[in-house]
Amino acid sequence: MAGIRKAEISDADVVSSLILQTGIRFLPLVFGPQVKLILGRLIKTPGTVFYIDNVYVLEIDEGKVVGAMVAYPGYIIRKRSLKTALVLFEMMGMELIRRIRVFRLVESKNKVNKDEFYISNIAIDSEHRGMGYGTKLLKYSEELAKEHGLGKLSLDVENTNSNAIEFYKRLGYRGTKVKRMYIKGSQFTFVRMQKLLNK
Ligand SMILES: CC(C)(COP(=O)(O)OP(=O)(O)OC[C@H]1O[C@@H](n2cnc3c(N)ncnc32)[C@H](O)[C@@H]1OP(=O)(O)O)[C@@H](O)C(=O)NCCC(=O)NCCS
Repeated sequence: MAGIRKAEISDADVVSSLILQTGIRFLPLVFGPQVKLILGRLIKTPGTVFYIDNVYVLEIDEGKVVGAMVAYPGYIIRKRSLKTALVLFEMMGMELIRRIRVFRLVESKNKVNKDEFYISNIAIDSEHRGMGYGTKLLKYSEELAKEHGLGKLSLDVENTNSNAIEFYKRLGYRGTKVKRMYIKGSQFTFVRMQKLLNK
């Protein structure tokens, strides 16, 4: 039986590995080679956007975590940006300053409205894909959105990730805009996808 629960500090390692799978090329370019450690620290530090209170895990028998989702209402991003930046500075030091244009670019392209529930990352362990777990986790985000009184879900997906795009379409998401970014000589194209919930 698969169940979904809020993440705990002890899940940080598995969750950071799963998050990494949502942007295998993109995330190391943005955060640098220490990306997994940095994600782990963000997950463990209260007040960051990646803190465990915004992370949900899917576990199967014997408590084995095989999926994770980072999701939150758009209005908390601004509240948590300072703490997130401070942790990044602690972890990256001057490297953060060198990469500040990259962070600013990503932030400006991925703006989320206050009235949207944003799915920042969702991943299922490669051994457990195609078993309906991703569907279960993504549908759970609809309950979370409703709990927060929000009627719109949004997310960003790389245009090369056709598997995920099909997955989102099947669950009622529609592409609303396309955003291009150049990071360290590589081009990334993201599709913003959204779903309106029935009131
Ligand atoms: C996208 C992702 C979360 C979907 O999770 P999932 O558990 O595989 O999804 P589901 O099993 O609920 O549904 C996937 C669909 O693809 C089909 N499928 C079959 N084999 C599959 C496989 N090996 N991998 C993925 N999907 C597969 C499933 O049958 C299902 O189709 P259906 O609804 O018509 O039955 C998962 O593939 C993943 O973690 N990908 C890597 C991370 C990623 O790209 N995240 C999104 C970034 S924005």
